[in-house]
Amino acid sequence: MLAVSNKVATEKEERPNGIPQHVAVIMDGNGRWAKQRSLPRHAGHRSGVSAVRRTVEHAAKRGVAVLTLFAFSSENWRRPQDEVGRLMKLFLEALQREVDELHRNNVRLRFIGARQQLNEGLLAKIDAAEARTSANTGLILNIAVAYGGRWDIVEAARELAGMVANNEISIADIDEDRFAAALALSGLPDPDLLIRTGGEQRISNFLLWHLAYSELWFCDRLWPDFGPAEFDQAIAFFAQRQRRYGHTGDQVGAA
Ligand code: FPP
Repeated sequence: MLAVSNKVATEKEERPNGIPQHVAVIMDGNGRWAKQRSLPRHAGHRSGVSAVRRTVEHAAKRGVAVLTLFAFSSENWRRPQDEVGRLMKLFLEALQREVDELHRNNVRLRFIGARQQLNEGLLAKIDAAEARTSANTGLILNIAVAYGGRWDIVEAARELAGMVANNEISIADIDEDRFAAALALSGLPDPDLLIRTGGEQRISNFLLWHLAYSELWFCDRLWPDFGPAEFDQAIAFFAQRQRRYGHTGDQVGAA
């Protein structure tokens, strides 16, 4: 993996070379990939880990500053117990196996989601991986586990309500910036580009607040088959978009 120092700009600005600063990914299609091969679903998830590795490497190589991967949603707890158990084991094993190399490559790892729902063993590894990589200055890799966009918004509302109740802030102090700062991706720019594999064209309770102005790129390719070629297609799509944030096209063109 390449060691790249991908500086994060805090404002809504695009990188001059058309590379999105923050890419978010809904990794869908592991189950179908396995089914097509008459394999059990967990074989698809295992193969999905290789696609994660390829994607992290390629994102760093292309100069993406932040990569956020949707690994397990708030709703995925509803899956059969066996599949959930195997997924948790897979996350644990992937962490054990990959953290050294991620650290060597200056990647900063962060987890977002309802941590208290995770088992102690996984949680301990997550805490250790975050602490170990916290000073790294390269790619910021956020893994969303037990994450839901609605959960995130409710947690932020609770935190702010608590601050009001404790007289730390007043209701009038709550604006979009303060709200965003109470969300799980606090301090990071919103995703410029959302990629979803597996053919579905929906957000599935991912980063509901943060995707307000993201460009959306969907592809039929199943997640285990996703690689650098598809990532580059998504970036090429992104590079052609005109981002207006409510302005007219003429206003943006003249800027
Ligand atoms: C969606 O495919 C995928 C998941 C719910 C799990 C994603 C997990 C990985 C890619 C494994 C490794 C991740 C990390 C971060 C190490 P699906 O099961 O919904 O597929 P289907 O729609 O074809 O059934």
